[in-house]
Amino acid sequence: MLGDIGACVFDAYGTLFDVHAPVSRVAGELGDQADSISRLWRDKQLQYTWLRSLMGAHADFAQVTADALDYALAAHGVNNSSVRARLLELYRTLDAYGDAAPCLTQLKASGMATAILSNGAPDMLAAATETAGLAPLLDGVLSVEEVGIYKPDRRVYRLAVDRLGVAPDRICFVSTNPWDASGAAHFGLRVARLDRFSVPPDNLPGEIAATITTLDELPELVGA
Ligand code: LAC
Repeated sequence: MLGDIGACVFDAYGTLFDVHAPVSRVAGELGDQADSISRLWRDKQLQYTWLRSLMGAHADFAQVTADALDYALAAHGVNNSSVRARLLELYRTLDAYGDAAPCLTQLKASGMATAILSNGAPDMLAAATETAGLAPLLDGVLSVEEVGIYKPDRRVYRLAVDRLGVAPDRICFVSTNPWDASGAAHFGLRVARLDRFSVPPDNLPGEIAATITTLDELPELVGA
């Protein structure tokens, strides 16, 4: 158990929301390339966040997401503007994983503060949390747009400390993205890595406090 936790802060994409849901909805039109397109879309999206941060050329997550989709479609020889438009619309209203709402409900019932800390632009996060019914279960939805640089820059993780008014070692940060888990731990948050997909931890600085395989395990881990 992680003692003396005052707030649970969640990564959004991949952790609370299923980033592969949009492609699965239009899989019929993408055929057997669908999974490959979805994976490349996500990989390029993350690469563009890191590269833009290094280049000092920030653009918001909606732009990066569209740019990455265009790359993934082009790489697979897909030129279909209506599929492109539908995928980007579906990305605004992603499905939440089934364990997200029950976990947040239990945390809130115990009096724990809850928040999202995400690369997502504020309007994307508002649309996704509203559609998934998570908005009433969150005390804060924090976007990197406030600091104008992407994870894993330290300024992003500091935002959670500043906005929630909770010390770093009393914040449990939860992410499925191993590099995000490492970044948050290196900054000084207590990190529960959510291993939804049975992947190893990243070999990066930052000590992960706990590893869970579903959000069902989180309330007990933080004493909620
Ligand atoms: C986010 C990305 C990293 O929500 O998934 O911040």
